[in-house]
Amino acid sequence: MAEIRIRNTGERISGFENVKAFLDKQNVLHERWDMSKLPEHLREKFVLTDEEKAEVLASFDEEIKDLAARRGYQIWDLISLSDQTPNIEELLKKFEQVHTHTEDEIRAITAGKGIFIIKSDEIGYFDVELEAGDVISVPENTNHFFTLMDNRQIVAVRLFIEKDGWIAYNVDDPEYVKA
Ligand SMILES: [Fe+2]
Repeated sequence: MAEIRIRNTGERISGFENVKAFLDKQNVLHERWDMSKLPEHLREKFVLTDEEKAEVLASFDEEIKDLAARRGYQIWDLISLSDQTPNIEELLKKFEQVHTHTEDEIRAITAGKGIFIIKSDEIGYFDVELEAGDVISVPENTNHFFTLMDNRQIVAVRLFIEKDGWIAYNVDDPEYVKA
């Protein structure tokens, strides 16, 4: 289940309903997928063949098509990152850059963990810690970045309205403080 940490106060929010209520206020979509739909052999697997990636996507075909119908996504894929990913150290360094996109950034975590750092005009930056089953969408034109957590492994579905909408525009925000 996703958890929130508000950086300015250290406050934590947990429990699906509380987290969803908080994220609703920030215009951040939050839903859950039923991970029992994922075949067991794919649940803790972070290096995936093309066939295995297709199997993960097929497991959640209904959920993906439902999101696409509701929110206009045209294409989707599956990404996996772990210590086995070439250049993982370099990638992780690059990740910590606040940026925006002209379309929303939606991710459905199917294995592992990840964290979105998002800016709210009212309360400043907050972290959303995500695990398998969590679906999140950061609104367009909202300062954010995504990175891995300590276990450094994740598999996630990404959906796009158009690939160009997902270009990152870096923001040099003095309000963002590394924590
Ligand atoms: Fe992004």
